[in-house]
Amino acid sequence: MKIVIGCDHAGYEIKQSVKLALRASLMKKDEDATHLQDIGCDSLDSVHYPEYGKTVADWVASKDADYGILICGTGIGMSMVANKVKGIRAALCHDVYTAMMARQHNNANILCMGARVVTPYQAINIANTFFETDFLGGRHEVRVKMIDS
Ligand code: RB5
Repeated sequence: MKIVIGCDHAGYEIKQSVKLALRASLMKKDEDATHLQDIGCDSLDSVHYPEYGKTVADWVASKDADYGILICGTGIGMSMVANKVKGIRAALCHDVYTAMMARQHNNANILCMGARVVTPYQAINIANTFFETDFLGGRHEVRVKMIDS
């Protein structure tokens, strides 16, 4: 599984925490099968979130990555940007339940989070839940295809 992660300045600190946690959880299970690519930003200096949102969405849409994670202040801007890219189903999740539903029902391929909304601890739990949960298919498959068309 290849995951691409990006953020703006507001999401930088939580991105670092989520990266460490995913390395400790997902990669511990099967290090060779999991790759986590960080496309920035790399500091607290102010940047424009649409640039990072589009980069992550393009990676996922072109299948250079299976899933993406995007973090900005609220997660709203990143989800708006990512959902403009065809094939992207970006879900803004602020709790474990919505992260689970985003995978089970919506087959979300990008997880968006708001660094000013969730704590680092919550963000880690949300990310772990997202990557541990499979799409249920069935009736949800029909609906997801409707989104994509
Ligand atoms: C940056 O201040 C903030 O606007 C951005 O991180 C994000 O919340 C936008 O949706």
